[in-house]
Amino acid sequence: MSEEKKEIIYTGDCIEILKSIPSESVDLVITDPPYGTKTNPRDTFMIGEFSNVMPLVLPEIFRVLKKDGGFYCFTSWSMMSDWLLRYQQYFKLQNIIVWDKQRHSGCYSSQSWQFTWEGIFYGIKGKRQIREYMPDVIKSEEKGKRIAMQKPVDVIEKLIRASSDEGQIILDPFAGSGSTLVACKNTNRNFIGIEINPEFSDLSKKRVGDFNKRFSHGTLLDAGQ
Ligand SMILES: C[S@@+](CC[C@H](N)C(=O)[O-])C[C@H]1O[C@@H](n2cnc3c(N)ncnc32)[C@H](O)[C@@H]1O
Repeated sequence: MSEEKKEIIYTGDCIEILKSIPSESVDLVITDPPYGTKTNPRDTFMIGEFSNVMPLVLPEIFRVLKKDGGFYCFTSWSMMSDWLLRYQQYFKLQNIIVWDKQRHSGCYSSQSWQFTWEGIFYGIKGKRQIREYMPDVIKSEEKGKRIAMQKPVDVIEKLIRASSDEGQIILDPFAGSGSTLVACKNTNRNFIGIEINPEFSDLSKKRVGDFNKRFSHGTLLDAGQ
């Protein structure tokens, strides 16, 4: 295990910033990409941002991961068939984990049931041992969200504990408000976060900064552009 602390938040486009990260330097990627669901008007949707961004980002995620690296990717059921095909071009799918949100977050249309879960793909580049075995359904209610897309830290902590050791490096190229980065702090992992929206990356710096203040060991490198 490396003793060196690495905590970096970049503000910018991950398609560009990923190119500066050395090959085979990251243990685990955990991310929640833009879903690209356009539900306005409510009865139509299109496959949007994900399909434009991910074909460029997936080969970079594959490149920066170590040979035994793992990759967790949040998904939406409505995009799953498209995402799965793209994901499996690079990674060996091991699980689709269900995050049971314990309450519904609206309807896709007037003709559909309510949403109560999201899927999380888990795949590996080579061989990666599970550290803590857990059931593939995680129950956790969304609460205290600061941005609409924010994911619960406790769900991400489970992914981290299942697939990494303390001191390892975790990358989130679509970091949003920094939930993965806070989960890394809570579990003593190093991290690299990238977020294109400066408001969200400021929020993630604040969340990590608050943690550092509470435990008085600030090491965050703000790599804002
Ligand atoms: C679904 S949200 C992530 C939310 C995050 N999991 C959280 O808990 O706050 C996806 C994020 O990707 C960001 N994003 C979209 N395209 C990007 C790009 N090319 N590079 C970096 N970030 C990007 C969006 O601004 C958004 O914050």
